Amino acid sequence: MKIIFTCRFVPLNWLRSSSQSPRRYFSSKELPKFYATPIFYVNSVPHIGHLYTTVYADALHRFTRLCFPNNDVTTTIFSTGTDEHGLKIQKSAQSKNINLNEYCDQISSKFRQLFNDAETSYTHFIRTTDDQHKKVVQNLWKILMDKGFIYKSKYCGYYSVNDETFVPDNLITTNSNGEKISIESGHKLEWYEEENYVFRLSQLQERIIDWIDNHLIMKPENYHQSLKADIRNIKNFKDLSISRSKTRLQWGIEVPGDDTQLIYVWFDALVNYLTVTGYPNKQPVIWPPCHVIGKDIIKFHCIYWPAFLLAAELPLPERIYCHSHWLYDRQKMSKSLGNVVDPFECIEQFTADGIRYFLLKEGTPHSDSNFNLDAVKTCLNAELADTFGNLLNRCTSEKLNPKQSYPFVSLDEIQEYLPESLDTINFIETLSNECFESYLDGNFHIGITNVMQCLRSINGLFNLIQPWKFVQKHPHNDNDNDLNQKRLKCLLFLSLESIRISAILLNPIVPNISKSIFEKLNISQEFCQWKFAKINNSKQQNDNRISSKKLIIFSKLT
Ligand code: ME8
Ligand code: MG
Repeated sequence: MKIIFTCRFVPLNWLRSSSQSPRRYFSSKELPKFYATPIFYVNSVPHIGHLYTTVYADALHRFTRLCFPNNDVTTTIFSTGTDEHGLKIQKSAQSKNINLNEYCDQISSKFRQLFNDAETSYTHFIRTTDDQHKKVVQNLWKILMDKGFIYKSKYCGYYSVNDETFVPDNLITTNSNGEKISIESGHKLEWYEEENYVFRLSQLQERIIDWIDNHLIMKPENYHQSLKADIRNIKNFKDLSISRSKTRLQWGIEVPGDDTQLIYVWFDALVNYLTVTGYPNKQPVIWPPCHVIGKDIIKFHCIYWPAFLLAAELPLPERIYCHSHWLYDRQKMSKSLGNVVDPFECIEQFTADGIRYFLLKEGTPHSDSNFNLDAVKTCLNAELADTFGNLLNRCTSEKLNPKQSYPFVSLDEIQEYLPESLDTINFIETLSNECFESYLDGNFHIGITNVMQCLRSINGLFNLIQPWKFVQKHPHNDNDNDLNQKRLKCLLFLSLESIRISAILLNPIVPNISKSIFEKLNISQEFCQWKFAKINNSKQQNDNRISSKKLIIFSKLT
C-alpha cells in the first residue's frame, strides 16, 4: 500500500528552507574581540557626533558579546578615551587661560561621563597623558628608530592645526581672504619649515596598498572604494614628519634622546591602541583591533597606522568600520555656527536608550545624516512608544492576558488556529539572520528597520484578529469560544516571542529596554543571547507567568 503522507499545514522547517539562506555564515569565533573608537580631542566638550562614534562602536561590541557562547565578557576589549596632546589643544587651553593639565582633566572627564551616561560598555578608557601611554609611545619610537624607519631632515609644507596634519599641494585652495585652506576640511593652513624627525612612509607604499586592496575589510563599501581610488592617485608616498620643534609645540611626548623635539600628535594618538593591550610588557593577546572611525580620519587609520605597525612588525587591522557625519539642520555642526548638539541634553530629554536608538536607526554610515530634534521625537514616539510599547501593552494587558502568562503553543497549533500568521512567523524566523548580516556590515539602520517591521506586522495581526472583541465569553456558542481562546493564545505566544526576540536583537542598540523586557517577561538575562533569537528556543514547554510590574518601554514625548 502506498502511504501518502499529507501535511495539512506548512511545517516550520519548510518555511525556513523556503526563505533565503544567509549569504554566508560568520561564526562568532571570527567576530573581532577588540573594538576601538578613535580617542577624542579635548579641545572642546563632546557633541552628538562624538557620541555617535562611541555608540556605534558600542553596538558592535555588544553585538559581538551577544554572539559569544554564554556572553563571555571576559575576552573582549572595547577601548575609547581622549587625545590630549598637540598644538590644537595647546592653543585651545592657552586661549582660555587655563592650565593645560587641568584643562585636559576637565574635558577628558566630560567624555568619560558621557560614555557612562550613554551606557556604553567600554572596558578601557585611555588618556594620552597617562604615564603608561607615554612609555609605550617612546618605546615604539625607539623600535622604529632602531629598525631604521626614522631619520632627521628639514621638513616644510602647509599645516592645518585643526586637523593636526600637513596638507599636500593638490588638496590646498585659497579662500576669499586669500588665505590657504584645506579642501577636505576647510580649515586654515600655516606654512611650516622645520628640522624634524621623519618616518619612511615611502618605503611601505606597496605593502600598504596591498593591504588595502587585498586584506582589509572596510565597511561600508563606498569608503573602501574611494580609499582604493585615492591611493592610486598618489604617485609616491611622501615620508611623514613625526615630530615638532619645541619652539612651536610645548605640549606632547618628548622624542627619546632629543629634548628639543616632541612627538607628532597622530603618532602619539594612534599608539593608544597598543597601550590598551599592555604592550610592550606583554605581546598583545587580543590583536588586531577592529576600528570604528569617522570619514574624516581615514588617512590616519588606513595609511599612517598600518605603516607604523608594518615598521614595528606587528599584525595589521583586519576590519575597519567607517561612518559619515551628523549634520544639524543640513549644515555641518560647528562651534562658530552655534549649531552643535549637546549629547548630555539629548540623554536628559530622550533617555540614553532613546538617543542611542535614534542615532543608530537614523544614522547611515555610508552618507551624512541630518540631526533634528523634531525628527528624534517623531522617530522615538512612532517606533519605541507606539510600535514596540503598544505591542507589549497589548499582550500583557489584564484584558487580553488575564492569566498574565507567557503561553506555550506549538507551531502545529499556530498553523491550525492562526494560519494568517504564517508570513509573520516566516519573518520572525529569518529576522536574526537578517540582523546578523546587517549588524556585521555596520548597517544598524537596516537591522533595526527589520525588527520594527516584524513588530508592526504582529500589531497588524492584532488589528486583523481583534481579540478584544471575543475575550468576553459568548454565552451561546462554546465552540466559537474555544476556537477564539485558542486563537488568542496563539497570538499572545507569537507577540511575546517577537518581543523577546526583538529584545535580543535590539540589545546592542537599547540595552536598558532590552533588560527591562527580559525582566517583564520573567526570563533570566542569561537567555539574552543571539542564538536564542528564534521562535521557541529558550522557553520550556509550559506556560510561565510574566511579571506583574507595569513596564513602559518608552514614555511618549510630547
Ligand atoms: O579625530 N558626526 O578626534 P575628534 C559624526 N583625536 N561623527 C563625528 C562628527 C559628526 N558631526 N564630528 C566628529 C580625532 N565626529 C582624533 C582621533 S584616534 C587615534 C585620534 C567623529 O575628536 C570623528 O569622525 O576630532 C571621529 O571619528 C571622532 O568623532 C573623533 O573626532
Ligand atoms: Mg575632528
